[in-house]
Amino acid sequence: MTTAKHIVLTGTSRGLGRALVQPLIDRGHTISGCGRSASAAEAFQQIHGDPHRFACVDVSDAGQVTEWAAAVVAANGPPDLLLNNAGVINRGAPFWEISAEEFAHVLTINVIGSANVLRQFLPAMIDAGNGVIVNFSSGWGRHGAADVVPYCTSKFAVEGLSQALADEVPKGLAVVSLNPGIINTDMLKTVWGEGATRFPSAESWALPAVDLLLGLSAADNGKRLSLH
Ligand SMILES: NC(=O)c1ccc[n+]([C@@H]2O[C@H](COP(=O)([O-])OP(=O)(O)OC[C@H]3O[C@@H](n4cnc5c(N)ncnc54)[C@H](OP(=O)(O)O)[C@@H]3O)[C@@H](O)[C@H]2O)c1
Repeated sequence: MTTAKHIVLTGTSRGLGRALVQPLIDRGHTISGCGRSASAAEAFQQIHGDPHRFACVDVSDAGQVTEWAAAVVAANGPPDLLLNNAGVINRGAPFWEISAEEFAHVLTINVIGSANVLRQFLPAMIDAGNGVIVNFSSGWGRHGAADVVPYCTSKFAVEGLSQALADEVPKGLAVVSLNPGIINTDMLKTVWGEGATRFPSAESWALPAVDLLLGLSAADNGKRLSLH
């Protein structure tokens, strides 16, 4: 029998995060999700109802994340599984054509945003003595590629954050990074346009992804995982 888990999932408005919600709920788990879109959060809250919670939160805003995490832990307890999925990519262009603002935007959401989420949920997970954290990385967090320098920089940082944090968390917890593969989402369309349609949909990706995510345990601490 599967034990119901409390799963905190960032980036539930669109793409991979959105596609994970239904199969996780179907298996009896409780989701606390967020994204910047208020309308997407409201629509999901209407569809799924209590005890699931969908909130309008920008992960790069430390204050919003602090309030959100406190409300989530008060309602549903510490996460058994924390999926740091929310992210953005730069428009595909050589580094020297990307403004300082766009470079900072990608790093602020992908790196600072992930750290904001970890900082707020980790203390409750440490108190509980268990839980698994999955930081969404990328193939472009493990090798470089032209036209995505800001994104590569951010995802290499996510890998470093994950490796170092895995060395710090107490026994019973795990921190892993995940390269989810290449999936046809808004993010992929940003860099590859119509070329993105050659890749699987988020919905077909989500089924094997759920099996992998739910199978993780403290024994996986420090792993650099990939789904292909
Ligand atoms: N698709 C791929 O092929 C691929 C490959 C490798 C890695 N990844 C990684 O997988 C994760 C999901 O990617 P995706 O393809 O699903 O991207 P996506 O379709 O663009 O969706 C990104 C999600 O993140 C949310 N988000 C973005 N900025 C946010 C912020 N500041 N605060 C809260 N939520 C925010 C978005 O919702 P709002 O706009 O409402 O905030 C949306 O729900 C990302 O970490 C990405 O780097 C994807």
